[in-house]
Amino acid sequence: MSTQKESRKITTNTLQKMKANGEKISMITAYDYSFAGIFDKSGIDVILVGDSASNVMAGHETTLPITLDQMIYHASSVIRAVSRSLVVVDLPFGTYQSNSDIALASAIRIMKETGAHAVKLEGGEEVIDSVQKIVKAGIPVMGHLGLMPQSIYKFGTYAVRATGEEEADKLKRDILLLQQAGCFGIVLEKIPSSLAEEVTTMVSIPTIGIGAGNKCDGQVLVMHDMLGINTEFKPRFLRQYLNLYDQIKNAVNQYVQDVKSGDFPNENESY
Ligand code: KIV
Repeated sequence: MSTQKESRKITTNTLQKMKANGEKISMITAYDYSFAGIFDKSGIDVILVGDSASNVMAGHETTLPITLDQMIYHASSVIRAVSRSLVVVDLPFGTYQSNSDIALASAIRIMKETGAHAVKLEGGEEVIDSVQKIVKAGIPVMGHLGLMPQSIYKFGTYAVRATGEEEADKLKRDILLLQQAGCFGIVLEKIPSSLAEEVTTMVSIPTIGIGAGNKCDGQVLVMHDMLGINTEFKPRFLRQYLNLYDQIKNAVNQYVQDVKSGDFPNENESY
């Protein structure tokens, strides 16, 4: 008898097959039970519990402050709502860079304490020992290259990465190293679409782009950006599908007026 939820359909193997068949992969971030449940029912392939939670949930300027305990809290809330999508959880800044034993311990905590299906980390050659060690322990790892928000103070800007030959060459070397180390997929953030296309054809594992053009094997967006909850962040790569900020503000404003005027609750809404 299996104790797994029977309806969980998407695995890392599914993503591999999708790339091989030319079927695009959809990915979105989620940080809580309610939204994760809606996304899972919407047919999304992968839910990323991103360390962007540090920005959109906690209001920090960068992703650096979020802790492993906080990521575990978000991821376990998400996983309770999900029966079909693959759930990937970001290893936060400081939990995998110093050495591969610490990286493995962090990944094990995420897998054990949340029930998530995979972890994601940023970087190439610099973190390859950690990737190898985590993969060797049986934990699926997704890589992340290009703009890596955990390195924002090194980059000094959120501008497009790898526009020059040197950085593009490093990215090409890194993606091959990550594939060799056993990553099942790679996020490519904010790089020229021609480079994303080139590296996507170089590897047999899927690439998931954000600001990396439409030749990647899939796309990921941060839920607050694509649903228009976050109105100040409007980069060129973003397609905003809703304007939830205005819709929620108007709805709550109407509620305030109804309470103040005595219109709410009416007889039908009372016992
Ligand atoms: O943390 C995050 O939301 C991410 C995406 C931008 C890919 O890493």
